[in-house]
Order: sequence, then C-alpha cells, then structure tokens
Amino acid sequence: MATEAHEGTLTVTDNRTGQTYEFVITDGTIRATELRTIKVADDDFGLMTYDPAFMNTASCRSAITYLDGDNGVLRYRGYPIEQLAEKSTFLEVAWLLIHGELPTPAELAQFTKDVADRMAVDPSVVAAVKAYRKDAHPMGVLEAGFGQLSTLYPEAKAIESDPERMDALYNIIAKMPTIGGVAFRHGKGTDPVAPDPSLDYPTNILKMFFGADYDPDPRLVRALDILLILHADHEQNCSTSTVRSVGSSQVDPYSAVAAGVAALYGPLHGGANEAVLVMLREIGRKDAVPEFVEKVKNREALLMGFGHRVYKNYDPRATIIKKACDDVFEVTGVNPLLEIAVELEAVALNDEFFIQRKLYPNVDFYSGLIYEALGIPSEMFTVMFAIGRAPGWVAQWLEMINDEEQKISRPRQVYVGPDERDYVGIGAR
Ligand code: ACO
Repeated sequence: MATEAHEGTLTVTDNRTGQTYEFVITDGTIRATELRTIKVADDDFGLMTYDPAFMNTASCRSAITYLDGDNGVLRYRGYPIEQLAEKSTFLEVAWLLIHGELPTPAELAQFTKDVADRMAVDPSVVAAVKAYRKDAHPMGVLEAGFGQLSTLYPEAKAIESDPERMDALYNIIAKMPTIGGVAFRHGKGTDPVAPDPSLDYPTNILKMFFGADYDPDPRLVRALDILLILHADHEQNCSTSTVRSVGSSQVDPYSAVAAGVAALYGPLHGGANEAVLVMLREIGRKDAVPEFVEKVKNREALLMGFGHRVYKNYDPRATIIKKACDDVFEVTGVNPLLEIAVELEAVALNDEFFIQRKLYPNVDFYSGLIYEALGIPSEMFTVMFAIGRAPGWVAQWLEMINDEEQKISRPRQVYVGPDERDYVGIGAR
C-alpha cells in the first residue's frame, strides 16, 4: 500500500476538564468527527479542527495518485510518472486513471475509438462559442462550454448508472480539446476545424488548433502527449477537490468539471504557466534576472512557476518537461525566453530565500515555453492544462461517487462575527 499504515491509538487529555480520550489512528490519520466527543458540557458542540486552505486535512481515501512532495515522487495507480511519460500515451494513462489498471490492447483500441468518436461537439456549442467576443479568454469559454454540455446530455444526471456516467466521462475527455480548439480559432477569427476520428488524440488537437492542412512533426506530437500525461492527475489539488466538492452535490459530471475549469483558471493554479511567460517577457533579458529575484525577495513580485503546496523538492514533472523542451526546440529552434528561465532557476536555486522556503520549479515553469514553441498562444496554456487534467477530474469524480463514505461536501466554520444585536432603522444610523 502506498501510504504507510501506522496503526495504533492517540490519547488526548483535555486540560479544560482533565478528561482523557483515545482515538484510533488509521493510515496516519484520526477521524476529525471523533473530536466532537471532546466536550466541556453535554450541550457543547464538541471540538473541531481549524484548517483554512486544508493544509492538513485528508478529505478522502484515494487509490488514484500517490504524491510524496518531500521526495519529489509522483505515481498514477502505482506507476512512476517517469515511466508513463517515457513509455505510455495520454489515452492509455486516461484509461489507467479511470479504471485502475493498464488497458489490454483490445481495451485501449476500443477506448481510443470511443474517445475519437465523441470528439465532435453539437453545432449549438460551436454557435455559442462564436457568440463570444473575439478577445474572450478561452478558459471562460471552456467553463461555459461544460455548462452547456450538461444541458445537452441530461441523461448524465444518472450518476449511479454505469453506461450513462462512462459516456459522460469519455465525452468530457473527448470534447475538452474540441471546445478549446473552437475557442482558439474563434479568437483568431477563423472557422473551427472538425475533429478527424481517424487521427490520434494529440494530432487531432494540433489540427483542430492550426488547421486540417497542418502536418505536425511527430516529435511535437509526442511532446504534446507527454505534457498531457504529466498533467493528467495530481491528487487533491484545487481544481480536483473542486470537482469532488461540486460533484458531491450529485450534480452531473459536466457541471462538476465546469467548476473544475473555473478553479484551474486562477493564476495560483493552472493560470501560472501563462503568468510565467508574462514574467519572463517582463524580465526581458538574462542580465535582468538578479534584479527581478531581488524584487521577489522584497515581496514586490512572485516568482511564477516556483513553489508548490505539496512539493518541497523539485517537481518531477518539471524535470521531464525540461527534457521535452530540448526535443521540441530541436524541431522549432530555441525559444529565447528559455535562456532567461534557465538563469532564473539557477539564481533562485542558489539563493537562501528560496532554499529556506524549499521553493523549486513546478510543472508550470517550463510548460509554457513548450506550448509557445508549438505555436500555442499564452491565453491557451491553461486550456492545455485542462485538456490534460480531464482524466484526473473524471477519475476522481468517479471514485468519489463510488465511495460510500462520501456525502455532500460541507465544511464547518468558526463564527467570529457580532453577537446578537437589534436592528437599527435606516433613519437612526
Ligand atoms: N515566489 C516567491 N515567494 C514564494 C513563492 C513564489 N512563487 N511561493 C511561495 N513563496 C513564499 C511565500 O511568500 C511564503 O514565504 P513566508 O513564509 O516568508 O511568508 C513561503 O514561500 C511559503 O509559501 P506559501 O504561500 O505558504 O505556500 P502555499 O503552499 O500557500 O502556496 C503556491 C503554494 C500557491 C503554489 C505558491 O508557491 C505560489 O504562489 N507560487 C507561484 C504560482 C505558481 O507557480 N502556481 C502553480 C502551482 S502548481 C499548479 O497549480 C500546477
């Protein structure tokens, strides 16, 4: 088992009452609800934990992704990310995440066909995208697109029914790049390119973005597939826990994923890769790096693409992406911003401010450079992230729905507002 199971008990003495309690420890956790038995009086609500931003709260038991942030380890269903990035494909990884095992050749062939056949979107989705302003951010369009899909597939409300929900989950993976592609081309003032079910998934993405005549170099196709693999899941991150939380209301999975897209849009989450490129452009040249690092240390700027809630070591995905950069630049020529990024990393990794805080490059530090080399504009970077993360969102949603311990997600609060007081009429204020 991935997590160390330290079975045993925890004895707690409440110094307010002198009473002692014993709690069972399972997998390094105690049940938060058991703390409610710790009371000062019979009518006391009982003790709660206070954990803003969920810094130390496990919200679920999950068998999907194992992450050891201190040692820079990431595994999907037990398989190291390095092996998957080297040997697998994005659709194989998507199957693995959803079903728990690597597919047989027949299962993979069927899944590949199932996804390819589902990539086309209803004409009303294309019409809706075309109604947006040309400068609409594609993440806003994507978010709305998933709300629209929920209206087109009302049968997805049957979340307990396997055929209906599998249809929805495969649809989500299949249609994410198609809506992204329509939004991308609309922004450029060009007509959408329909998916071609005879093409593999990453080639389809590139053609839906750049035109049916675009003939991508296989090295670029592979680099894109690797990027998608690296983004496919990352346990209980902000957007995934959003998908679980919204999905816990038993809404259909398209709506839950629309919420996940919204969470991913934020600059502290999926929006960071776009922010990295903006930052690198602002720095402008290699010699300006030390000056920028000083600004970060003076709290005048954040070093985007650095730091992570869980990784306190080099993000293993950043290592793989850095290598993929070389393959892509072999085809496209080196992105001049790479030089600034490499210098920035070197300066930061040798600076006490970053060493002390264990701040290392995360997945977003280099991914934007590859996307840019592929010709993808920065406002589309987070859409690429969403395409990659779709299998993780749906696998985690499915695990949550099947988990008998899960209920509607509803945190507690510590109320710190005024005590009861009498209403004062507007004339008396
Ligand atoms: N640049 C400068 N200082 C930073 C950075 C950064 N990128 N990240 C963290 N720090 C500092 C904080 O100011 C804090 O310093 P302090 O203790 O002296 O106050 C310390 O490091 C700890 O950071 P926290 O903010 O407590 O870390 P948290 O886990 O809350 O935040 C986060 C993680 C949001 C990723 C943060 O590191 C950050 O903002 N990074 C930049 C944005 C980014 O790259 N996001 C992508 C994350 S990966 C992903 O979503 C795929």
